[in-house]
Amino acid sequence: MNIGSYSLPNGLFVAPMAGITDRPFRQLCKRLGAGYAVSEMMSSRPDLRDTPKSLLRSNHVGETGVIAVQISGTEASQMADAARYNIDQGAQIIDINMGCPAKKVCNKWAGSALMQDEILAIQIVTAVVQACAPHGVPVTLKMRTGWCAEHKNALQLARQAVDSGVQMLVVHGRTREQGYKGVAEYDTVAAVKAAVSVPVVANGDIDSPQKARAVLQATGADAVMIGRAAQGRPWLFRETTHFLANGSELASPLVAEVKHLMFEHLHDHYHFYGQHSGVRTARKHIGWYVKDLPGASEFRERMNLLDDCTQQWQAVADYFDQLNALSDRLPDLRSAANQFKQQQEMENSNHEKHADCRLRAT
Ligand SMILES: Cc1cc2nc3c(=O)[nH]c(=O)nc-3n(C[C@H](O)[C@H](O)[C@H](O)COP(=O)(O)O)c2cc1C
Repeated sequence: MNIGSYSLPNGLFVAPMAGITDRPFRQLCKRLGAGYAVSEMMSSRPDLRDTPKSLLRSNHVGETGVIAVQISGTEASQMADAARYNIDQGAQIIDINMGCPAKKVCNKWAGSALMQDEILAIQIVTAVVQACAPHGVPVTLKMRTGWCAEHKNALQLARQAVDSGVQMLVVHGRTREQGYKGVAEYDTVAAVKAAVSVPVVANGDIDSPQKARAVLQATGADAVMIGRAAQGRPWLFRETTHFLANGSELASPLVAEVKHLMFEHLHDHYHFYGQHSGVRTARKHIGWYVKDLPGASEFRERMNLLDDCTQQWQAVADYFDQLNALSDRLPDLRSAANQFKQQQEMENSNHEKHADCRLRAT
């Protein structure tokens, strides 16, 4: 599929996840078959541009594939400036965030809160499209199905956004009110796909190659976007590519390969964040990799106490060497899909806690 003039290798996307889909993780997912990855959101506020977090998020040095940067904000002119700034930093596609339910975003009427104010939402889209047009940079939009069950306006907003120049839409099949609870529905995604001429991407609860195929078939979407299920399982993109092409499942990865992939990931991660921050922020990724594996909780407890990269690296090496002695391949986690999903929800509950902004339309 294409976004503007960019041709993507496939329709498997990594979802933007603040604090997770940083440059090292995006790169790893792309190496393992993801055709496209969107950066974590960048605030449009100019006073936040030089914070250490923003500087890291706007660092795309060596990034392969198309560089897509997501921006969030509430003021059209500020969003337009943010788009120009990120283009200067290397962005080739600008994505507007109207999907994130996080409190610090919603309190300022950004993220999915914008879906409640269609006029403002379209003013922002128009301003960003105008800012990007002289640079030939396509603008995309990530949204939810609506504000709440009674106000599902994804379809209206999608039509207006496309009329205003948006060149691709991602729809997460939940309302803002749902946060990450309940289940994603895909009827709204299908309705959006049927109504607009630009590519539409289905997102929400896609956690296996089979689910990816089912969602593609049910919605007619051009691509699927995967977030939480790829945490600690970046080879899900390879498995899904294979399944969509051949209809058969790949065997679980070899333990030795997973160890190698984790080393690559950790190497990039430490390099990107520096040793002090890197060892701490790597813990959550390591935790996700070992989840459901034998002895995971004991290993996590010990590993979380280490604050030195070399020690952390060695702990990972020792853990996977012991695992390799038990089995050549990872246990088939797909058979434990329900348990996996519940644990993902618990891991992400922190994000959800911050999503408690109940700004219902009055
Ligand atoms: C920890 C976390 C951080 C997220 N950060 C963002 C973000 O920065 N921008 C955004 O548009 N969506 C964000 N999302 C939403 C995801 O992109 C995605 O829409 C959602 O997780 C549903 O997809 P999934 O079921 O495949 O995870 C975040 C989700 C999680 C769990």
